[in-house]
Amino acid sequence: MATSTDKATGNRDARLAALYDRLGAHDLAPYWAVNAGADNDEDGQVLKGAKAVPYIWRYADIEPILFEAAELITMEDSERRSVVLVNPGLAPVRATVTSLYTAYRLNDPREIMPPHRHSINAVRIGLTGRQNFTGVEGENITFGPGDLVLTPADAWHNHGNHGDDFAVNVSVLDLPLSEFLNAASFEHGYAEAEDGALVARREQTSRYAEDYSHRVYGKGGLMPRFLDHNRGTGLHSPMYVYRWEETRELLERFRDHDGSPWDGIMLEYRDPATGRAPYPTMTFFGQMLRPGEKTLPQTQNASLVCIAFEGAGRTVVDGVTLDWKPFDAFAVPGGSWFHHENASARDDAILFVTSDEPTLRALGFHRRQGRTAEGEAVRLD
Ligand SMILES: [Fe+2]
Repeated sequence: MATSTDKATGNRDARLAALYDRLGAHDLAPYWAVNAGADNDEDGQVLKGAKAVPYIWRYADIEPILFEAAELITMEDSERRSVVLVNPGLAPVRATVTSLYTAYRLNDPREIMPPHRHSINAVRIGLTGRQNFTGVEGENITFGPGDLVLTPADAWHNHGNHGDDFAVNVSVLDLPLSEFLNAASFEHGYAEAEDGALVARREQTSRYAEDYSHRVYGKGGLMPRFLDHNRGTGLHSPMYVYRWEETRELLERFRDHDGSPWDGIMLEYRDPATGRAPYPTMTFFGQMLRPGEKTLPQTQNASLVCIAFEGAGRTVVDGVTLDWKPFDAFAVPGGSWFHHENASARDDAILFVTSDEPTLRALGFHRRQGRTAEGEAVRLD
């Protein structure tokens, strides 16, 4: 039996050490803090998990790898040929920030991958080439630089290139989030009913006009009453492609507006039928930093993947300076303090931002705050 003299004699240390061994042997963990520096300080343990770090991936490094891979890996070798951005703080887990996965893809001319679907939501943004192709549930979408294409959960889709030029796009998926929740699943083997039998198809038969998304949802505030707006699972935007020229035009219309001192001129992509974010898990922004614009510092627990699209600038994340130019991608981990700067006094800088903010909002976790020019902390949203 322990006595008060055990503490004094140091016997307690030996017994505690033995107790920790026993806990470990039985796959148990202690939850008590002996002192803040101890290994068994639970608050410290909870916060010690793998964390994404501020990081930038440069398109100058990615592009030659994409072309080399396209030479070495044909569609016969693999139907997938993407380069994935792995955050060094999360490796070997393939995640760009905690909840989001990012991949660049080069499509050879006339290359179409067979349809597949998954429980994961994805967005795809054209970077180069005008003939990127994604068929989504029978809507055949050809897209170019800056166009944003949704491939929602459970929607059959096939990617590729219907043109004669190489085409590069970047996609962001909620894959790490769905994996964490045991909700990630994939399905291949697309087939269509024909004369009462299922026939395998390499490409989906068109079921919608190629301009369906734009024709139905292209006029904000007006929607056809005679069409069903619950496409697919009904949990995502029924508009599958958002065209760059419209985003750019709206950004331009607000050029002389004050905007937000924390975000500049930032547009959020929305589900036109409900006004909500395009996905329950992710939302997207087109963000313009005007010449010389520098935002005030902010922090939020949503995690961001930013793709630089126009111009050049820098983002300082927890003291780490990330200098970016077109098609670079960078991670702004949730919980970090950051601000953006347009490096040019003449040209705009434009970022595409993907955020897991809707997930955090749905769960009541979302927090965002900024600092004023005077250094005062203010709650945002
Ligand atoms: Fe996919």
